[in-house]
Amino acid sequence: MAKKALLSIDGQDPIELPILAGTEGPEVIDVSSLTGKGYFTFDPGFVSTASCESEITYIDGNAGILLHRGYPIDQLAEKASFLEVCYLLLHGELPNATQKAHFDRTITLHTMVHEQLRVFFNGFRRDAHPMAIMTGVVGALSAFYHDSLDINDARHREISAHRLIAKMPTLAAMSYKYSLGQPFMYPRNDLNYAENFLYMMFGNPAEDYVVNPVIARAMDRIFTLHADHEQNASTSTVRLAGSTGANPFACIASGIAALWGPSHGGANEAVLNMLDEIGDVSRVGEFVKKAKDKNDPFRLMGFGHRVYKNYDPRAKVMKETCDEVLAELGVGDDPQLKLAMELERIALEDEYFVEKKLYPNVDFYSGIILKAIGIPVNMFTVIFATGRTPGWIAHWNEMISGSYKIGRPRQLYLGKSARDIRPLAER
Ligand code: SDX
Repeated sequence: MAKKALLSIDGQDPIELPILAGTEGPEVIDVSSLTGKGYFTFDPGFVSTASCESEITYIDGNAGILLHRGYPIDQLAEKASFLEVCYLLLHGELPNATQKAHFDRTITLHTMVHEQLRVFFNGFRRDAHPMAIMTGVVGALSAFYHDSLDINDARHREISAHRLIAKMPTLAAMSYKYSLGQPFMYPRNDLNYAENFLYMMFGNPAEDYVVNPVIARAMDRIFTLHADHEQNASTSTVRLAGSTGANPFACIASGIAALWGPSHGGANEAVLNMLDEIGDVSRVGEFVKKAKDKNDPFRLMGFGHRVYKNYDPRAKVMKETCDEVLAELGVGDDPQLKLAMELERIALEDEYFVEKKLYPNVDFYSGIILKAIGIPVNMFTVIFATGRTPGWIAHWNEMISGSYKIGRPRQLYLGKSARDIRPLAER
């Protein structure tokens, strides 16, 4: 017998609402019939709203659990490559050796971008924010692939997924090279995904560039830690754009735009800017006080989360990776890392952060690693977008390949009731 919720409204017969159960997590109350009863639900920020059914990622915010297709994030970060995680998100299972080899090769063969796309960069100022460039050029990809824009064709959806996963590192590195006035580096088919990205970022035509395998492994793991995260703001944006039937390149461009905000993917850049502003361990207390002041808009960047009310499991792996990279680079005593660790220690002991369950999230340590690798702060969210692309595409594909309706929320209207225009002379 299916469970039901009874909604009793003064003077009316109770409204029966079905309760639906998933394989994990809270049950949901299906309120879709309420419009027919003359009511909307009201949930700004969708704090209590499940927007869809999905099998891709499960988060238990209280327990600090993150599963991709059932696999814990720490196991995936440790034992799988980023491309294996991409395959898992897209297909629901980790690839076997044959599938892995074929998928890796397929992605490799899509890493180049159309030569005409290189011209797009010339329209930007050299000091354009790379996220502005990425939003533009990823959206422009749909102008190059008229052969595969039928979203109802599974093969078109698959090749678009491969193109997007493969070309994001190339476009990311191009946006960095453009800011330096250095030539774009063509991808190399003899390098794996992370090695190729580092080569395109830091190589140049004048000399050979040898990728540091420890840094490449760390880069690959950073991509994995960003790969997907359920119905977060940018993934929900991709789903909403996709629900109109827009092509996948336009949908991913909308996800990139949404990710840019400092409350979301822009937080990694904001963490480093915040650490620069704090400057010294002696000022940590001053900034923790500001973060607690309701009248001060300052928030501790890299702390807090809509879902995690425990330590973000990705932050744990990111911190371990941070220690590895800084040790490999011989900068284990990086002052910003020491500052970040002191900030974390003080915050986690402070009753405000304890009471509100504010813990470090994925963005708190990632910027310290990226900066140590030599990636500039304004490229951090581009790295996040590159890692999140398989998650965005997997959710888009899950929706389009199933049954879906165009997303169209309603509102609680607080404006003027109907009234007549008065002649200008009388206004
Ligand atoms: C990401 O959704 C995802 O999954 C996102 C993400 C992903 O992988 O896709 O995990 C990636 O976006 C991580 C979050 C990165 N953002 C930041 O680090 C920015 C700093 N954090 C905050 O802006 C905030 O914590 C949010 C935006 C992340 C979450 O905000 P919510 O869920 O709307 O929570 P809230 O603003 O209602 O906060 C609850 C309380 C508030 O105080 P009260 O109004 O209850 O008195 O906690 C306070 C907030 O003022 N608070 C903070 C704080 N975060 C929340 N106070 C100081 N510093 C903070 N960082």
